[in-house]
Amino acid sequence: MREQNVEICRGPGCKAWSSDRIARELLEIREAQNLDEISVCRIPCMNVCGSGASVRVNSTRKIVKLKEAGDVLNALGIRKAEVVAHLA
Ligand code: FES
Repeated sequence: MREQNVEICRGPGCKAWSSDRIARELLEIREAQNLDEISVCRIPCMNVCGSGASVRVNSTRKIVKLKEAGDVLNALGIRKAEVVAHLA
């Protein structure tokens, strides 16, 4: 799998949409699945607050609004089935 980069906003508006939990769960999944090619970092407010936690994938200009760690995996192109298979 190629290197992938996830930036999750740590601003107050996104914290209200559980960005801390999403980041923590994503790091837990990364650790449990040995997905070392995925880097996760927290970044300041991107001024697009509301409707979910603001996440930028692979340093593109596009910012997506997500509500669950699974949504981040989808944005990375990692299906839940792959995660489950990796655990088996
Ligand atoms: S608080 Fe996250 S975009 Fe503003």
